[in-house]
This record gives sequence, structure tokens and C-alpha cells, in this order.
Amino acid sequence: MNEAEKDNTHFELNEVWKIYKNGDKIVHALSRINCYFTRGSFNIINGPLGCGKSTMIRIIGLLEKPTMGKVLINGDNTSDLSQKKRNSIIRNEIGMVFKRSNLIPIINAVDNLTLPMLHSDNNKAKELLKKVGFNDYNKFPSEMSVEEEQRVCIARAMVNNHSIILLDEPTGDLHTMESDNIIELLLELNQTQGLTMIITTNNRRLSPSDNTFEMVDGTILKK
Ligand SMILES: Nc1ncnc2c1ncn2[C@@H]1O[C@H](COP(=O)(O)OP(=O)(O)OP(=O)(O)O)[C@@H](O)[C@H]1O
Ligand SMILES: [Mg+2]
Repeated sequence: MNEAEKDNTHFELNEVWKIYKNGDKIVHALSRINCYFTRGSFNIINGPLGCGKSTMIRIIGLLEKPTMGKVLINGDNTSDLSQKKRNSIIRNEIGMVFKRSNLIPIINAVDNLTLPMLHSDNNKAKELLKKVGFNDYNKFPSEMSVEEEQRVCIARAMVNNHSIILLDEPTGDLHTMESDNIIELLLELNQTQGLTMIITTNNRRLSPSDNTFEMVDGTILKK
């Protein structure tokens, strides 16, 4: 990485390994990963079933610790930080979206956004919902299409002014056109809000770019 990229690096994985034990079997979910993501970049992680995409997302999102290696955020080695500090980074910096919407079914769209806010703010929730193209503020998750649910999840991932959004197969349950709509929304949010995005997806509408990572068997083949 050059000097400018170094200054602008948001997240970095340095010699990261993640090894799971499944009974007698040892699984190398991540094998010696070295990569970095610059601030405001739009990154795609592609790869076949079981290659380690979700593990990468969980490790970057500080939901799991690597078996070996370092995860650096803004140059700080997160494994040196206390769990309290890690929690604060998760709460303040990192928004996450998964394949299946995990909205709370018994409350409406606005309340799903205000619940995780540090300071509950209905107007801000509505503003964010508008940003993701969702205007039915009082709709409950059971009344939403799968695409709408994902839009609300994306808005929720931004409630605490997060600077990074990690999305693990956000279009995995969507048909092609809905999937394209979500990808278009993510590209727009990346450009207008300056968010760093890391997305695992099999949506092939996105042509490979400098920020496409191809994973195979726990390693990054090429960037
Ligand atoms: N908590 C865990 N305990 C044990 N093994 C795990 C665990 N999580 C993942 N693995 C294993 O690590 C490997 C990578 O899994 P991971 O879910 O990261 O892959 P993936 O690329 O996200 O797969 P998919 O395309 O199915 O979502 C797999 O062999 C999986 O079985
Ligand atoms: Mg996965």
C-alpha cells in the first residue's frame, strides 16, 4: 500500500487466521489473510459456499477474534483493546446487515430504527428511512416485502452515524431486479454518505473492480 492509502486506511487485516474445531476436524476458515479497506471505499467479497466470507465479515466487525493475526481499525490493533472499547467501536462505528432481515416483528419501521439509537430520535429515523427510499414509516415488518425489509435494515445500520457498513449477502434472498435495486442503493449511499462498505454478494451486476476480493478456501485469491 502507498503512503496515501496508508493514511486513508480504515480497516486492515494483517496475517489473519481463523481456525475452528468441528469435533475432530480442524477447519481453516481464514488462512493468512492480508488486506485493507480505505475510508469511503466500496468493497465486494465474492466466493463459493463455505470459503470464509461470513467469517471475514464477523472478524472485521469485531464479533469474533482471529485465532492469529491482527485486525486494525484506524491503525489501532483491536486485540490490544479492552472488550469495553471493542463494544464501543461496534456501537459507534460499525453497522451490519445480514442476508435475512432481523427486524423486530412487533414494532414498526421507525421504532426498529430508534431502538438501537444512543439517543432515540424519531425525526432522524424518518430521515434515514427516506434516504433508503422507504416512506411507509408505520409499516410493520410483516407488511413489508423482502426488499423493503432489507432497505429498513440498511437504514438501521446507519443510526449511530456509523462510518462502516458490513453486509453479509444482503441480496441473498432477493430476486434479480430487487437485488439490483439494493446494490444501486448501496452504491448511492457509499457515494453520498462517504460510508466504507464491505459486501459479500453473488450479484454479478457489479463488474469486478479494484475493490473486488475473490475468496477461495479461506484465502483471498486476488484483489
Ligand atoms: N462457528 C463456527 N464453528 C465451526 N466452523 C465454522 C464456524 N463458522 C464457520 N465455520 C466453518 O468455516 C468455513 C467458512 O465458513 P463461512 O460461513 O465463513 O463461509 P461462507 O463463505 O460465508 O459460506 P456461505 O457461502 O455458505 O455463506 C466453513 O467450513 C464453515 O463450516
Ligand atoms: Mg456466509
